[in-house]
Amino acid sequence: MTVLCLINQKGGCGKSSTGFHLAGALAADGRRVLLVDADPQGSTSQGFFGPGLVESLPPERTLAVLFDERFGFADRSRLALRTEFEGIDVVPANHHLARHNKPEPETGGDLQYAVRELLDELPAYDVVLIDCPPNLYTCSWTAMVASDRVLIPVPPEDFGTQGIRAVHAAVGEARTLNPSLRRLGHLLTRVDSRLLIHRSYEKELRAAYGELVLDTTVPEASAFKVALARRRPVEFHEPHSKAAEATRELMREIDARLASKQPRRAAGGA
Ligand SMILES: Nc1ncnc2c1ncn2[C@@H]1O[C@H](COP(=O)(O)OP(=O)(O)OP(=O)(O)O)[C@@H](O)[C@H]1O
Ligand SMILES: [Mg+2]
Repeated sequence: MTVLCLINQKGGCGKSSTGFHLAGALAADGRRVLLVDADPQGSTSQGFFGPGLVESLPPERTLAVLFDERFGFADRSRLALRTEFEGIDVVPANHHLARHNKPEPETGGDLQYAVRELLDELPAYDVVLIDCPPNLYTCSWTAMVASDRVLIPVPPEDFGTQGIRAVHAAVGEARTLNPSLRRLGHLLTRVDSRLLIHRSYEKELRAAYGELVLDTTVPEASAFKVALARRRPVEFHEPHSKAAEATRELMREIDARLASKQPRRAAGGA
C-alpha cells in the first residue's frame, strides 16, 4: 500500500482536483484506491457524493471521529464509503472536522498518529490519497505522519516561494514521527503553456528544484471542472480528453518515481 498526501498551504492550487481525477486514472488501471478527505471543506467528498449528503453526515461518519474523544471506541471499519466507481472508496469529511484542525499540531500527543492508525485498521488498498486543507495544521500534519510520500501541487504563478519552503520545513518536522516520509515532488498544476509567465515560472521552478519537479504538468482544462461538476473523475467522464491523458501520464510518472528505489534528492534534503 502506498500512501500519498497532497499538501500546499496555498488555496485553490489543485490539491483536491488532482486527487479526485488521479483516483479515477488509478481505478481505471485496476488499482484499489482510498481517498481520505482530510479537509473540513470536504471538496473530495462533495466531488463524489454532492454537498447535501456530505454536509448532513454526523461527525462519527466522517474523519472527525478520529479526533473527537466522545467517540473513542467507535467502530471505524465502516468509515470508508463506496463510490459508484469500482475501486474507489472515500473516507469523507465535512465542517465537523474544522474544530479539530489546530495550529501547532505537533503538540497533539497520540492524536498525531490518528490517520495512520485508521489506515492500519481499514482493509488494504493499493493506493491511499489524502487530500489536505490549505494550511499546515492538524489535518495536514496527521496526513504527513500517515504517508509515504508528499505530493506538492503548485500553480505556476506562486512567486512567493515562502509557501513551498514552509511545506518543505513541515515535511522535515513530520519525519521526526515518520522517518520514512519523503517528498514525491512538486507538481505544476493549472498550467497554460500559452502564457509566457507560466513558462518562465516553470523554468524557474525546475532550475531551483531540479528532479524534485515532476516532468508531468497538469494543464488548466475545462474538462477537469466539467467532470467534477458531474461528480465523475475525468477518466470516466471524458477519457479521450487531454485532461484525462495528462492524468494518466501523472499516474505513470508517480508509479515510476515510487518504483525507483533511490528517493530523488534535491537541494534541501529528502
Ligand atoms: N487543472 C485544472 N484545470 C481547470 N480547473 C482546475 C484545475 N485544477 C483545479 N481546478 C479548479 O480550480 C478550483 C480549485 O481547485 P481545487 O479545489 O482542486 O484546489 P485546492 O488546492 O484543493 O483548494 P483548497 O486549498 O481550497 O482545498 C476548483 O474549482 C477546480 O475544479
Ligand atoms: Mg482542496
